Amino acid sequence: MITRRMRGKDFISVMDYNLEELETILEVAKYLKMQWGVGEEHPLLKGKTLGMLFASPSTRTRISFETGMTQLGGHAQYYSPEQLQLKNKESWKDTAEMISRFIDGFAIRLYNLKAQMGADKYDYGDAREVLRAIAKDASIPVINMLDDKEHPCQIMADIMTMREKFGEDYKRKKIVMGWAWDDRAKSAGVPQTMVVAGGILGMNITLAFPDEAGCYDIDPEYLKYAQEAAKESGGKITVEHDIWKACKGADVVYCKSWARKPDVHAEKGPKYAKDWCISHKHFEVANSRAVYMHCLPAKRGKEVTDELIDDPRISIVNDEAENRLHVQKAIMALTM
Ligand code: CP
Repeated sequence: MITRRMRGKDFISVMDYNLEELETILEVAKYLKMQWGVGEEHPLLKGKTLGMLFASPSTRTRISFETGMTQLGGHAQYYSPEQLQLKNKESWKDTAEMISRFIDGFAIRLYNLKAQMGADKYDYGDAREVLRAIAKDASIPVINMLDDKEHPCQIMADIMTMREKFGEDYKRKKIVMGWAWDDRAKSAGVPQTMVVAGGILGMNITLAFPDEAGCYDIDPEYLKYAQEAAKESGGKITVEHDIWKACKGADVVYCKSWARKPDVHAEKGPKYAKDWCISHKHFEVANSRAVYMHCLPAKRGKEVTDELIDDPRISIVNDEAENRLHVQKAIMALTM
């Protein structure tokens, strides 16, 4: 099921993509990974340039996009806002219009305008608004490398990894997309993207988080969208507030920290430190072939025990990280 409709399309939200398009990304990623594995070169973006604007640090995203462009025969450029005239208040509009004359795709990581761009204030959703505005003013595809609502490249790599481990059966597996303890209040972009992508693709996802004054819920728009999409696709998106019940019979335990209310998190979060630090104990109630996933970087000793993340029988975090490369190559080859 391959569609050619994606040329020139932005990759900002998985909500902008339908089942056929998401399946196409996964199929092309698998094809490119196989080609690369047997040493077959694929210079599909020869002579093309990807601009990468990072307003915050990155290891995996930067390296995988840059390597991906090299493998596709093109070139990637790295910028931080301090190195561009954005620092001197050149507008996003002027930047987007002008940069489209030089490059062929613009990948952007932007999720906290106050901290990253010196904005006076920052509300949830502001970074997405800026990203949409850039995409409107740019005449080249814009790729979201993490904003304040979603991390779509990460989730496509995660789903590719589940599909590799379980085959097409992955849609019938119990996937726990759960919260884990850490003192830092991180974005809910990963679980939000996972439930929506899972809903569209027809996956069985248990979203697990402590029931704590709206602090660990995800954006209700995402949960509603996911549950409605799941009705159409035959998937299932359920919510569970007890991590032990969530892990019972699980095939994937993918738990990471997030918090929507930093003040509530600072006060109430520590009481969940014991139960929500994922360890071999959680796998005692999971299915026997269950795997542990994390988008990385993981906070060892808080989100997960050293023993579990280092257990090669259970932890597939580096397979997951590697698939960032393959899935992003597919996204670029299809859109740029
Ligand atoms: N998972 C992820 O996006 O990692 P980086 O922040 O290192 O890019």
